[in-house]
Amino acid sequence: MSIHIAAKKGDVADTVLLTGDPLRAKFIAENFLSGSVQYNSVRNMLGYTGVYKGARLSVQGTGMGIPSISIYVNELFREFGVQRAIRAGTAGAIQPDVKVRDIVLAMSASTDSGANSVRFGGRDYAPTASFNLLKRAYDVSVAKGRAPFTGPVISSDMFYTLDPDEWKLWAKFGCLAVEMECAELYTLGAQYKREVLTILTISDSLITHEITTPEEREKSFTQMIEIALETAVS
Ligand code: HPA
Repeated sequence: MSIHIAAKKGDVADTVLLTGDPLRAKFIAENFLSGSVQYNSVRNMLGYTGVYKGARLSVQGTGMGIPSISIYVNELFREFGVQRAIRAGTAGAIQPDVKVRDIVLAMSASTDSGANSVRFGGRDYAPTASFNLLKRAYDVSVAKGRAPFTGPVISSDMFYTLDPDEWKLWAKFGCLAVEMECAELYTLGAQYKREVLTILTISDSLITHEITTPEEREKSFTQMIEIALETAVS
């Protein structure tokens, strides 16, 4: 048992899917896993373990933002010996060719977060996906007929930025989308020597201001989860 996850060590599988919204973790457990058991409800940050295509798998809510995901991923790696963590989340598009409902595999994550500047004493670190997971997710997506965008993202601490054009700097340097957790997951993967990946569906565009309807979100979310599950067990 850790501070924020009230489970026994063996209750969590070696491979964990991470979702920002704990109710999405519940949805995945109930609709994609067989024999799932809830192992955590502390702060309603639900976590479940079940079986997908014969492989034991957990799915854990992380909350939004770097401080929140940092707590859960630290505890999963440190206390529960988790070896592989795949975040399935949403992001805002910041390139014109990236459209709502597209899938983005985050190859790397720049960040404006204070976490890494504290951790590295003001030096820069380049948070990067694990190549094996990235390649698997890419291959799985292509096999499903959906070549994903694969490239850098920006993990921001601010959803509501003071300057509404702040994203443009990151777009200028090739970032595909903005989200709020990936840089921390990748940095912790490096710190603990575990495999990490972020798979995103585009829920909105900062360029066109288009947003997905709840039905569209549900459909692209399902496709992303299928890619994440296949990647986790392949
Ligand atoms: N900004 C930050 N995180 C996000 C966004 C966004 O526009 N959309 C989905 N996650």
